[in-house]
Amino acid sequence: MKCTKCGDTATLELRRHNAAFCAPDFLVFFRRQVTTAVRKHRMLTPEEPVLVAVSGGKDSLALWDVLIEEGYRTSGLYLDLGIFEYSVESKAKCEAFAAARGVPLIVDTVAEAVGAPVPVIQRVTRRPPCSGCGLSKRYLMNRAALAHGFPVVATGHNLDDEAATLLGSVLQWQTDALARQSPALPSTHPKLVRRVKPLYRLSERETAAYAFLRRIDYIVEECPFARGATSIAHKEILSRMEDVSPGAKHNFLFGFLEKARPAFERAEGVVLKECERCGQVTTGTVCAFCKLADQVKRSA
Ligand code: AMP
Ligand code: FES
Ligand code: ZN
Repeated sequence: MKCTKCGDTATLELRRHNAAFCAPDFLVFFRRQVTTAVRKHRMLTPEEPVLVAVSGGKDSLALWDVLIEEGYRTSGLYLDLGIFEYSVESKAKCEAFAAARGVPLIVDTVAEAVGAPVPVIQRVTRRPPCSGCGLSKRYLMNRAALAHGFPVVATGHNLDDEAATLLGSVLQWQTDALARQSPALPSTHPKLVRRVKPLYRLSERETAAYAFLRRIDYIVEECPFARGATSIAHKEILSRMEDVSPGAKHNFLFGFLEKARPAFERAEGVVLKECERCGQVTTGTVCAFCKLADQVKRSA
């Protein structure tokens, strides 16, 4: 197999692009996919500082690496979920990455903000761990960005993540979620920062290859609560389709973004208010995060 660009021996075949690359040309390809995403959706500007939410996994650390290389002013944000050894190790990976590159890392702790770590939140709410966890992550990312003066948060969601989320939403026809699914969410309120996903054009296999070639030390284990999650089943189904028909994931996601998503966007947007307790954005009087923290406190 020869590199499509230079004719040298290729190390990676990308069937959905009908291409194969040697290591240096793959790195160029990868960075170009990120810069294309940024340009197409006006995700970032060179002047603005960007807060990169890092979990210690391959995707978010690969993203941080590319953004640093591209000259963006970045800081990392690690949210300590308090999930036993998994959190201890993933935090250490983020700290080592930041220290090696001399870039700042902000660390926030869910247990401090909510009153208990994710495993306890799960017990109290009796809901899947990912629901309290996801809610806390979104809330704390926005809060940290506002507190530290970042107009935008970037996350490491990749093509596989986005296609699986889309499949999950379609299977239940969650029209609200379909309206919100986008590589770039604008700020619709002064207290809501922009959220962008510059890796949405790249597959999990590609971010793993990038992290490997760039010698990024990341946590390989998944969160222990992820086992058996429906999102993993959705990923497996899509990967099987991809094997049979390369480009299936890409066509599913990109077709939705280009052709179907506009149909789900609401004619009149929801009215956003400020939570009367914490001041962050909500559609009600008290935000879901403050309600969660109340529930945790009551049970203590
Ligand atoms: P996940 O929801 O675990 O698939 O993660 C999706 C993205 O959310 C990651 O690529 C990160 O950008 C961000 N993220 C996940 N977990 C954390 C964390 N503990 N701290 C900061 N960002 C996170
Ligand atoms: Fe949130 Fe696993 S990362 S429950
Ligand atoms: Zn609140």
